[in-house]
Amino acid sequence: MKKRLFSGVQPSGNLHLGNYLGAIKQWVELQKDNEAMFCIVDLHAITVPQDPAELRKKTLEIAKIYLAAGIDPGKATLFVQSHVKEHTELAWILNTLTKIAELERMTQFKDKSQKDGKEGIGAGLLTYPTLMAADILLYDTAVVPVGKDQSQHIELTRTLAKRFNDRFGEMFVIPEGKLSKEGALIMGLDDPTKKMSKSATSEYNYIALTDDAETVKKKIKKAVTDSGSEIVYADEKPALKNLLNIYALLSNKKPEVIAGEYVGKGYSDFKNGLAEVIVNFLAPFQARLKNISDEEVLVVLKAGAEKAGSLAEQKMRQVRERVGFLANY
Ligand code: AMP
Ligand code: TRP
Repeated sequence: MKKRLFSGVQPSGNLHLGNYLGAIKQWVELQKDNEAMFCIVDLHAITVPQDPAELRKKTLEIAKIYLAAGIDPGKATLFVQSHVKEHTELAWILNTLTKIAELERMTQFKDKSQKDGKEGIGAGLLTYPTLMAADILLYDTAVVPVGKDQSQHIELTRTLAKRFNDRFGEMFVIPEGKLSKEGALIMGLDDPTKKMSKSATSEYNYIALTDDAETVKKKIKKAVTDSGSEIVYADEKPALKNLLNIYALLSNKKPEVIAGEYVGKGYSDFKNGLAEVIVNFLAPFQARLKNISDEEVLVVLKAGAEKAGSLAEQKMRQVRERVGFLANY
């Protein structure tokens, strides 16, 4: 039987190779044998301030990126989170089942609140994971393909599903996270101890999916490396390991094999090779991206919202009934 799959990306910042290798690349494979739903989570994006015009533009851009990366609207459902109002409704209900301490323990929240202080950030950042849990649980999701940074949120989703089921009777499927192996966590090019991130202060942290060949070469050239000059795949060489992972994922070879190809050569040859592999991936991807029109995407998103909306509506009728809300239909 086909399994329900759900995942999403926020329409904020520049989508980068980490997003592609950690999440989207596996979606393309998984859509073949599963009931996949891919969401553009605009409600999550506004947990930090967004410029409205920019948010709208980014939402369309992410949808195009999904399509250009190979998500097939004939197989998978693509939609925008705010188009299906049940997400916020279920999030509210889940909020009432969530302990404040559980939310304060989330690494993503801790990072942001440490940086800007609790006076400086919105409550949406605290309750962010309950909205994510709602996204997942609304559709009886079995599998959630994401990068490693989201594991903790998925764990909380499982806890909340169980808590609801215990309290109100079986309602939600307990979902599993699914991480891609080498791509589970792509690190920053300027700092291999931190994840590659959309919100990084330096653009030398990431390769954006929209970077041109010159930019890619420049960024790879500047990427930090470890001491020594040999190309080896090892935990003691985290910067090189990260670059080899990227190389491996984009060329469908094992990182150790690639390291073998560079025996006797230095960083400069390796970096040239890596830049070439990245450009060879990005060029056709960007060509496809350019050819997708706004109109085409809007049609896909509308159909997606209808499909998702009808599933969400059915589920929420049951949820409201269990919680004890008076029926209005
Ligand atoms: P976000 O950029 O937070 O909207 O993340 C979208 C998806 O990309 C999620 O599944 C993340 O886990 C994944 N992701 C984000 N950054 C990375 C990274 N550096 N390495 C691997 N996956 C990532
Ligand atoms: N929080 C995720 C991220 O930043 C995005 C997201 C929102 C998501 N809802 C989701 C991912 C549901 C998987 C399933 O990466």
